[in-house]
Amino acid sequence: MNFDLSDYLDDLRRHHPEELVEINAPVERDYTITACALELEREGRYPALLFNNVAGSPMPVLSNLFASRRRIALLLNLDERDLVEGWIRLSQRRVPPVPSREAPVQEQIFTGDQIDLGRYPIPIHFEVDAGQYITGGVVLSRDPDTGVGNLSYARMQLIGPAAFGVSLHSRGDLWDSHRRAALQGRPLEVAVLIGPHPAIALAAADRIPPDDDELAMAGGLMGAPVPVVPACTVDLHVPAYTQMVIEGVIENAANVDEGPFGEYTGYASGRSTRNVLRVTAVTHRRHAIFQDVVPGASAEHLTLSKIPRVARVFHQLKQAIPEVVAINYPMSGTHFHCYVSMNKTMEGLPKRAALLLFGLDMFAKLVIVVDDDIDVYDEKEVLWALATRFQADKDLFVVPGVLANVLDPTTENGLSAKMGLDATLPLNAREQRLSISPAVRAAVDRLLQDELPSAIISRFASGEPE
Ligand SMILES: Cc1cc2nc3c(=O)[nH]c(=O)nc-3n(C[C@H](O)[C@H](O)[C@H](O)COP(=O)(O)O)c2cc1C
Repeated sequence: MNFDLSDYLDDLRRHHPEELVEINAPVERDYTITACALELEREGRYPALLFNNVAGSPMPVLSNLFASRRRIALLLNLDERDLVEGWIRLSQRRVPPVPSREAPVQEQIFTGDQIDLGRYPIPIHFEVDAGQYITGGVVLSRDPDTGVGNLSYARMQLIGPAAFGVSLHSRGDLWDSHRRAALQGRPLEVAVLIGPHPAIALAAADRIPPDDDELAMAGGLMGAPVPVVPACTVDLHVPAYTQMVIEGVIENAANVDEGPFGEYTGYASGRSTRNVLRVTAVTHRRHAIFQDVVPGASAEHLTLSKIPRVARVFHQLKQAIPEVVAINYPMSGTHFHCYVSMNKTMEGLPKRAALLLFGLDMFAKLVIVVDDDIDVYDEKEVLWALATRFQADKDLFVVPGVLANVLDPTTENGLSAKMGLDATLPLNAREQRLSISPAVRAAVDRLLQDELPSAIISRFASGEPE
């Protein structure tokens, strides 16, 4: 079994070269890495990016690894079309970590005065950002009461040679562990994993109950236990094949200036819990790769956080309403818009599905429900359904003043209106959607494949404009 990010990248190089773009030209550490990913994204391309020559550091920087659903499906040995259902299946398995005899992540160890975070390629991503940020750090910790392990994410602003300002604003398990440790008068010990196996990074993005260990979930996703070794300066066990680990404590007091930082809404946010992470050791492989996650409303940030969320919402929605066929949170709506398709059997069912979704997902603000002939991953189809199957006086409802995500700049005191749109055909509708039969489509595909290149050549030859 492969536990190593570099082996995984080798695998991409060998079997899916289109999924990994290596950039050997010298690049600046700041802005460029983010800009490359976002420019490619504008062209509809989402390759993982490996920058082998980043100014100021010998470490290569990997970015955009999680920008594509296809790559995540490949990693989990799933068909892209089966990603949501496959995730629901795989994410329920638990394989606890095992002790490792090898510790490549500790090939180099820096403690005390030897720690100098300034020598690692921690980028500034956007001009409005307050500084250099680690965005892809997976924060490993243990529940201060039960000792159960936890994986999470928190943006980390470099504020000194051995210190970060961090924000735990999602108020998930990491925030709660820190809160309870502080009540006991203790700081929370953490180990930040940079460049773990991608399954570990995916498990960290999920929100599972605090008595359930995400490292065991990562083992379930990989189908093999994660090998771990004791950390050097904190009482934690870290995945042995991670590229780099930053050990330290999140202090009790929360009083540091942190942010603003480019958030998934597409705006900079200064909201912060203002915590300090004091670093006690940095360990890494001799030839470590530094992993960055493209922040802001990027495909990578949104895809990484959406995979587990979509799976959880879909699973719960489908349990209550089996007629639900698929859901998609389109990139255009960041975490706030959701498209649902269903095999409608009763009038009113689409509105019930939308209401349920709002109950399940605090972030959702707009839900559009369509029939199951509409592909929810094709925004053009969803908008066509809205154009031809929706009347605003009866197919729209608004629920005002519902608890929502505070990073949405339009919320007031954390409250938002929720809007549901039923863009399904009435059950007694007589309109027939235009379509082309699969047989004709296949025949035409063959015809175009054979004829199109020569047709284009003859058009050029005759001097016709393109
Ligand atoms: C790439 C990425 C960055 C994130 N950054 C932050 C952050 O800076 N602060 C925060 O509170 N939540 C952040 N989150 C959200 C939480 O980390 C996420 O909800 C996580 O699953 C919470 O896990 P926990 O409940 O185990 O703490 C981020 C999520 C992702 C995927």
